[in-house]
Amino acid sequence: MIILGIESSCDETAVAIYEGDLDTGQGRLISEQIASQIETHAKFGGVVPEVASREHLMALPPMVDALLSEASLNWSDIDHIAVTAGPGLLGALLVGTSYARAVGMVNDIPVLPIHHMEGHLLAPGLSDDLPEFPFITLLVSGGHTLLVQVKAIGQYEVIGQTLDDAAGECFDKSARLLGLPYPGGPEIALMAEGGNARRFKLPRPMLNRDNLDFSFSGLKTAVMYAVKNAGGLSAMNETDQRDMAACIEAAACEVLVKKSIRACLQKDAPRLVIAGGVAANQHLRSLLADLAEANGIEVHMPHPRHCTDNAAMIAYAAFQQINNGLPCSEAWDARPRWSLSNLNEPG
Ligand code: KG4
Ligand code: ZN
Repeated sequence: MIILGIESSCDETAVAIYEGDLDTGQGRLISEQIASQIETHAKFGGVVPEVASREHLMALPPMVDALLSEASLNWSDIDHIAVTAGPGLLGALLVGTSYARAVGMVNDIPVLPIHHMEGHLLAPGLSDDLPEFPFITLLVSGGHTLLVQVKAIGQYEVIGQTLDDAAGECFDKSARLLGLPYPGGPEIALMAEGGNARRFKLPRPMLNRDNLDFSFSGLKTAVMYAVKNAGGLSAMNETDQRDMAACIEAAACEVLVKKSIRACLQKDAPRLVIAGGVAANQHLRSLLADLAEANGIEVHMPHPRHCTDNAAMIAYAAFQQINNGLPCSEAWDARPRWSLSNLNEPG
C-alpha cells in the first residue's frame, strides 16, 4: 500500500511517500521533501499566518509533482492520501486539506485526515519498531507540551499539559530576549554549547508540584529579568550569552525530563517516547536517556530529522490507522483546535 503524506499546519510544507505492507505491518519511507519557510518568517520574529498560507499554496503542488516523479510513481500508484487536518493555523491547514481533497477526487484516491500530534507521537516508528503498548509520550513542539498515555493506536489520553506557554514557545521567546533569530530552540541549543549552566539561577516551574502539568511562561519572564540584571543585552558579551543559553536549556529540559519520568512511575509505564520539534534537542535527549536508565525506563526517540515537522510521520500515522482497522470519518474538516484525546469527534 502506497500512501502520500502532506503536512502544511505551520511553517513547513512537507510531502512524503510511505509504503506499508498490511500482511506484515512493516513499511518503509520511500521519499520525502520538506520546504521550510523559516527564512521568510524570521524577519518578523515568528510565523505570520497569512504569509504561511500563501507560501504553502505556491510550494505544495510542484513539490508533490517532483516527489512522484523522483519516486517514479503515478497518481494511479497511490492508494491513500494522508493530510494533516489539525491542529494548526487554519489558513495553512486549508491549503493542504483542499489540495488533498482535490487531487483525491480527480484521481479517485481516499483521503485520510491526520492529527498533527498523532503524527509526532508515532514518528519513532519511522526508524524503529514502535514500543509495546501502553507507553507514555512527551510531546514537545512549538504549540504543545503534552504528556500522553498511549494505550493503542488511536487511543491517547492526555495526562499532563502546559498551563500557559509550550516548551518550544519558551525557547523561541527566550531566544528573542537574547537577540537570537526565530526559531529559537536550535539557536539556544547552539549558543548553549560550552556555556555554564549553573551561572544564572532560573526557576524549574511546577517541578515540585505533585502533578503532571507544566508552566513555561514564568521561565521566560525569569530570563527577561536575568538579561535586565546583567545590564541588558547590549552589555552582555558572548560568554554571558552562552551561559544564559545553557541555563535556559538546562531549566526547560530538567522540568520536561523529570515530569516525564514521574508520569512513567505514576502510571506504572516502563516505556517512554519523546517527540515533537523540541525532542531534537541533544541536551534533552541525553538527560532523558540518563534519567530513564536510572529508573529502569526504556526510551524511544525519533531521528532528530523526524522530530520537527515532516510529512513522513503523517503518512506513517495513516498507515498505522489502516493497519489497525480504525474507521475513517467521511465528514471532516480542517480543525485548528483538535484534542488528541478526542480523535473521532466530528470537526
Ligand atoms: O514540532 P515542530 O517542528 O512544529 C510545531 O508543531 O510546533 O516544533 C517547532 C518547535 C520550535 O519552537 C523550535 O524552536 C523547537 O521546536 N525546536 C527546538 C529544537 N529544534 C526545534 N527546541 C530546542 N532544541 C532544538 N534543537
Ligand atoms: Zn509539529
